[in-house]
Parts: sequence; C-alpha cells; structure tokens
Amino acid sequence: MEYRFSERMKNLRGNSIREIFKLVESPEVISFAGGMPASECLPLDAYRTYTDELLSGENALSLLQYGATEGYRPLREAVAKHVGGMGIKASAENVLIVSGAQQGIDLCYKLFLNEGDVLLVEDPTYLAALHIAKTYRARAIGVRSEADGIDIVDLEEKIRTHRPKLLYLVPNFSNPTGKTLSEEKRRAIAKMTAEYGVIVLEDDPYRALRYSGRHLPAIKHFDQSENVVYLTSFSKTISPAMRVGAMIASRTLIAKLTVGKQATDVHTATLSQAVAMRFLREGELERRVEASLPVYRFKRDAMLKAMRRYFPKEAEFAEPEGGLFIWCKVPMPARELFLQAISQGVAFVCGSDFFADGKGEQYIRLNFSNESVDRIEQGIRILGDLLKR
Ligand SMILES: Cc1ncc(COP(=O)(O)O)c(C=O)c1O
Repeated sequence: MEYRFSERMKNLRGNSIREIFKLVESPEVISFAGGMPASECLPLDAYRTYTDELLSGENALSLLQYGATEGYRPLREAVAKHVGGMGIKASAENVLIVSGAQQGIDLCYKLFLNEGDVLLVEDPTYLAALHIAKTYRARAIGVRSEADGIDIVDLEEKIRTHRPKLLYLVPNFSNPTGKTLSEEKRRAIAKMTAEYGVIVLEDDPYRALRYSGRHLPAIKHFDQSENVVYLTSFSKTISPAMRVGAMIASRTLIAKLTVGKQATDVHTATLSQAVAMRFLREGELERRVEASLPVYRFKRDAMLKAMRRYFPKEAEFAEPEGGLFIWCKVPMPARELFLQAISQGVAFVCGSDFFADGKGEQYIRLNFSNESVDRIEQGIRILGDLLKR
C-alpha cells in the first residue's frame, strides 16, 4: 500500500528527543537528554491515596463518565485560585484544563495559525513549539536572545516586519537555555504585543522549580488587553504521566480553545484532573515542591561543579536559577560530540534542534534532574575528556 499522507505530515519526522529516548533506554547510558522530573520526587504515596479516596467516594462513578471539555469544575476553581496566588486574576471561567502543556501549545496554534502564518519564538526555544508549528505549516521565526531573555528591540523589529499573530515564550528557566525573562521585559512585552495586536503564548511549566532568586510576576500579570494566554502544567511538579495542564485566558479565547479541544480529545482524563485537584486543594502540591527543591538544587550544583572542573575553559555556560537544564556552548560541533559521547555511554541533546532555522550547532542541552550526583560527575567527566581532546 502506498500511503497518501497529508502535505502537513508528509515530510515531518518525530522530534529528535523522542528518537534519543529510544537510544538511551538502556540503564547503562548516563542520560542528560530528557526533561523528566527526578523519579525520587514523584509522589507515589499521595497519588495512590488520592486515587483510592476518589474511587471510593460518593462521586466515584462520575469520575468514570464523560465530562465537560472545559475541565473538571473543582480543578478549574482550584487552578484559578492557584494562579491568583501568583498575581494572575482569573475565575474558573478563565481556565481550560488541557492534557499537558503540549496540548495547550497545539490548541493555541490551531486557533490562530493558518498555513504560512508567522509565529515568533525566542531563539533558541522549546523544540516541540517548533515541531507543532510545522504540523500547521506555519513559519516560526527566531528572535535574538539575551542573558535576561528575548531581545526586545529585535522583537519589535520582527513584529513590524513579519506582522506575526503569535509570540511563543517560556518566561522562567527556559527549555533549553535555563534563562529567565526579566520583570522589565515582561512588562514591556505585555505592552508591546497589545499595541501591535499580537497574542502571547506564555508557556510556564517550570515556574515552581526555582532554586535561587525571587519569583517574578508572569507576563499575564501585566496583561491589560486580554492578549496573553498563560499556560501551566503539573508535569514537572506532580507527574508528567498524569497529563494535566491548564490554560488561563479571556472567556472569549477559552470558549474558542474549548471548541478546538473538543475536536481533539473531548476532555482530559477526569480521574487525572480529580487527582490534580486534590494535590492543589490539600496543599500537597506546595509541600511536594518544597521537598523537591533541595533535590534539584543539589543536582544542578553538582553538574555545574563538575562542568567547572572537567570542561575546557572554552566551554561557556551560565547558572540557571531554576528548571531542569544547563545550556552550554562547546568548542566543537555538537553532533560530533554526541556521536563520541553516546559510544561512551553518555547522552545529551544537540542545540540545533531548538533553533527556528536549525543553526546553533555549537550548543548542547544538559538535563541534571534525572541522574544521581555520582553519575552526573561521571558523565560530565567523560564529556570533558572528549571536549579536551
Ligand atoms: C517549555 C515546555 N513546554 C511544554 C512542555 C510539555 O509539557 P507537558 O508534559 O505538560 O505536556 C515541556 C516539557 O518538557 C516544556 O519544556
């Protein structure tokens, strides 16, 4: 059978991280490749207790029925309260529960992007944000990045030149760079995008994972024109397998996004939503985050220490204040380093996957959350030896 794939899918390959996952399945490989939360931080006991209680409670049967596309009402209320605590004004009507932030990105693109439309992204950015754009045959254009996030001058220039409908940003501890957008720029972006009529998709799955410095207000906090869509996820703070995230936006946008979601998956799994609601309502989410911060901080510091010790001085990297990644400029092509490293049992992700135009061949993304400190030291020493050759 010769399959007649759609134009949209014909030349699209799976993203390279998923491919790397297949390579690094073996437990011998020291993997700095994924973006997974630390296994020791996954809340198995609380998850089991909440699931048992929910399935033994008087509303158990309703958890096994079809539900509203907008999401499980008690979770929508809990999310509105949760983001309220971060300075984002919202009621349950401003919340759409999604099956992970990934679906939120997809729905937002689906709502705004026609074939050929321009989407602006910080260069580099989360690779799935680029990958999803391809499925809509939209054109992602990269905006320069500085130490404190996207370059505002370049952003305005590219808004004027390309008249994009959408700007996609990861404001806190960005994937892949670990950078955080300054408060000044958040304010400026809210103002500028409102003036030019650009929608901002503020994708913020890492906010809670801050190991130093103070929390900054979201871009959404400065949103006066209802042009900012805030996207959060419980993947990094409860469990990625739960597949629960939330979008916060104007009622008009939530209504439209709901139509898009209905066509995709009817609604997010109700039992997962109810479990997430319990984590929020009982304060367990906060307690879990508090307990996991020292674990992540310790691992981040172990990786930075090993990089300072074993990497050649030409390697450039900054200390991320949170999140799961260290972004590093290396003095050789990343692909070459990857091939040598994988043959010695160490994996990471090459930087070029995160750039809108595929450049960035001198960068690598290192994840520090999912290996023990001993293996972090061992893996970084191997990479350091290869880089020094
Ligand atoms: C910036 C960013 N957005 C979205 C996602 C997807 O998250 P979720 O598991 O909530 O779909 C990730 C996952 O790594 C991410 O890094």
